[in-house]
Amino acid sequence: MYYLIEWTGYQPEDNTWEAEENLMGNKGLIADFKEAYSKQHPHTKFHGDRSVGVRRLVLQGVYDPDTKRHSPTFEQKHKYVIDSLFLFFFSRSQGHELIFDQHGNMTFKNVTPKVTVVNEIDDTSFPEQFVFIDKLVFSKRVSVPDPDFLIGCECQHSCLKTNNEECHEEWTYDSRGKLKPGCTGPLYECNLACQCKASCPNRVVQRGRTVALEIFQTKSKGWGVRCKTKIMANSFVEEYLGEVITEAQGEARGTIYDRIGVSYLFDMDSAVTEGTTAKYVIDSYVCGNASHFFNHSCNPNLTVFGVYHDSGDPYFHRLAFFALRDIEAGEELTFDYLGSHGLLPSNTHAQQRIECLCDDNACRGFIHS
Ligand SMILES: C[S@@+](CC[C@H](N)C(=O)[O-])C[C@H]1O[C@@H](n2cnc3c(N)ncnc32)[C@H](O)[C@@H]1O
Ligand SMILES: [Zn+2]
Ligand SMILES: [Zn+2]
Ligand SMILES: [Zn+2]
Repeated sequence: MYYLIEWTGYQPEDNTWEAEENLMGNKGLIADFKEAYSKQHPHTKFHGDRSVGVRRLVLQGVYDPDTKRHSPTFEQKHKYVIDSLFLFFFSRSQGHELIFDQHGNMTFKNVTPKVTVVNEIDDTSFPEQFVFIDKLVFSKRVSVPDPDFLIGCECQHSCLKTNNEECHEEWTYDSRGKLKPGCTGPLYECNLACQCKASCPNRVVQRGRTVALEIFQTKSKGWGVRCKTKIMANSFVEEYLGEVITEAQGEARGTIYDRIGVSYLFDMDSAVTEGTTAKYVIDSYVCGNASHFFNHSCNPNLTVFGVYHDSGDPYFHRLAFFALRDIEAGEELTFDYLGSHGLLPSNTHAQQRIECLCDDNACRGFIHS
């Protein structure tokens, strides 16, 4: 169960998702909340498995967003932590359950190719509150891209074989679906308005991941990800998924995440030029896929590209990881948090200086600077 928390002294954009165990012992608050919920919804049983954003409820007597008044007793008791709880169910049913398969391996149910979880290092268990998703989730402040604004190609045969100027400006992939050498992105894939089929060679990222991954406990960087089979250079590996939020929300959440020492924000900034900023950010703190666990390296084997295939808005694009070189089965997958092709994870947001443990000879010392 997640609660959307309002923080004292911060704006509504500063709200962050917090799991019950992060509420710093405010059990009374949750009990009050559940009681208030059952009063407002007498015929609905309280449980944590609802669709995102279908219900929102403000705790009575704690904080009233209309008058912006706080209950004095509450302020005295909890000076800095929580103003109010909004119940904003993040549905676990949108996520994939972590189960044991027939071989006794931990794996996410109905995820193909598989994503397994193993800890051969210590007894740290996998973060229970993390919701494994296989598509983007949209904050209520961000509209799902409108396919009506897409411009499609009219290629009759394979998009890569015709030399049709009506097709997308640049041919991104070769016939085996690998990025063409020297490609700098962003990548324009065929889209809903195109005449070609789902099997079009210019639909690599939208067809999804093809390599099995394993989330594993590293020696010193927390959880990380490795591939189960060899990945060839320039292949698509995984998309960065999470909740799409606005830049303002990202800015505010960045400040708070930084305080608790986490960084899971990634700007969509392929279209950003000097003097402009990203409009959207992907936050994978609560929900994401294996890429939530990709660690930083100063000599990485992955790079990230902005990819367009479902939006005509230059500020809305997907973020996709590609292999920079051949990657052997079992190698950890890493990218440079300081960015490649101008894309920086949460570059505009507050950052703590975290010592880098990538072990590379050319290590820069810190993971963000
Ligand atoms: C996006 S998360 C990656 C997954 C993380 N290891 C976990 O267990 O959830 C980023 C965090 O991982 C850790 N991390 C990633 N790369 C690192 C590196 N090269 N050296 C030290 N810590 C790293 C830092 O704590 C960083 O804030
Ligand atoms: Zn096509
Ligand atoms: Zn085409
Ligand atoms: Zn390093």
